[in-house]
Amino acid sequence: MISFEASKKICSPKQVAQLSRTVSPLLSQARASGFGYPAILRLATVDHQSWPSQQSALCFGRHNFSTTSASRLQDVFPAKDTPFIRRTPPAWAHPGYTEEEMLAVTPGHRRPKTVSDWVAWKLIRFARWAMDLVTGIGPEQQVDMKNPTTAVAAEKPLTEAQWLVRIIFLESIAGVPGMVGGMLRHLHSLRRLKRDNGWIETLLEESYNERMHLLVALTLGKPGLLMKTMILGAQGVYFNAMFLSYLVSPKITHRFVGYLEEEAVHTYTRLLHEIENGDLPKWSNPNFKVPDIAVTYWRMPEGKRTMRDLILYIRADEAVHRGVNHTLSNLKQKEDPNPFVSVYGDSEKQHKPKAALKPEGYEREEVIG
Ligand SMILES: [Fe+2]
Ligand SMILES: [Fe+2]
Repeated sequence: MISFEASKKICSPKQVAQLSRTVSPLLSQARASGFGYPAILRLATVDHQSWPSQQSALCFGRHNFSTTSASRLQDVFPAKDTPFIRRTPPAWAHPGYTEEEMLAVTPGHRRPKTVSDWVAWKLIRFARWAMDLVTGIGPEQQVDMKNPTTAVAAEKPLTEAQWLVRIIFLESIAGVPGMVGGMLRHLHSLRRLKRDNGWIETLLEESYNERMHLLVALTLGKPGLLMKTMILGAQGVYFNAMFLSYLVSPKITHRFVGYLEEEAVHTYTRLLHEIENGDLPKWSNPNFKVPDIAVTYWRMPEGKRTMRDLILYIRADEAVHRGVNHTLSNLKQKEDPNPFVSVYGDSEKQHKPKAALKPEGYEREEVIG
């Protein structure tokens, strides 16, 4: 996040010039959009490729507006140096995807079938509208509003900074529902002395995976104080809302998350479209190397480590969340086993669900019988 309190502590004439070059376009953009506040939501994008010899960040008072050097990028999340431990691999290894699987993902929409489906969907649409408003996304940057969940082309692309604001904020709350659902089912199993039938791990893994998306995004841009405050407030509200909602109706909550994930697939498909179009100067560059944390987590093969490749992985993850949550919403919450981790016997090919490929999720008859 850029704090626009242009500081008394700007360090040198060179830095003043850099500051001016950076801030002016953002301010004009904010003025042009008619909103004063979106500008303060912008992030400093971390340009670790094109600043190889840049030793320091611009000084904004006490806050570094980070145009991070290559060496600093590796230190965004430094591992604690201990005498015995050499490496801490992820507890949930990523299952991995083939390129065909990732390319087969498409934005999609499950038509609401009940009143509660409709309410869940409208709530998500409202949240998207509010997010667009707060981040200063004007009509020319919006996609065809008649097909908001599937159209990906807009008159004007988002900037990399706008993308980062969106991704960091959304991923910080996307990791909440899985943790709440997993926690409540875990507690339910403990207090009711009952089995859970495989839901807990899938839900916790989903929240872990969302947190990995966030950590990767944080290596690309550095949130400032306002963004951090918004994330903190949003988590306070969202966690409690999810907690109550999951207690009252896990079915509706999974549907709500399914619709949220539809938006995530849509968002990342649009980002892919803009990267492939060459609309984003840094991320469209095939020489842009994604951070190590991403390479390790998704085990991204050599030669497949561009920003486009990274977004293909993240989008496929979101498609899995979408299919899983829509499907879980269709099941009997207290008695049905989790079909995604179940062993099917002879009918495995026919009935074992493949979440990523079914935007609207599986109906109960298809996977439980
Ligand atoms: Fe995500
Ligand atoms: Fe997701």
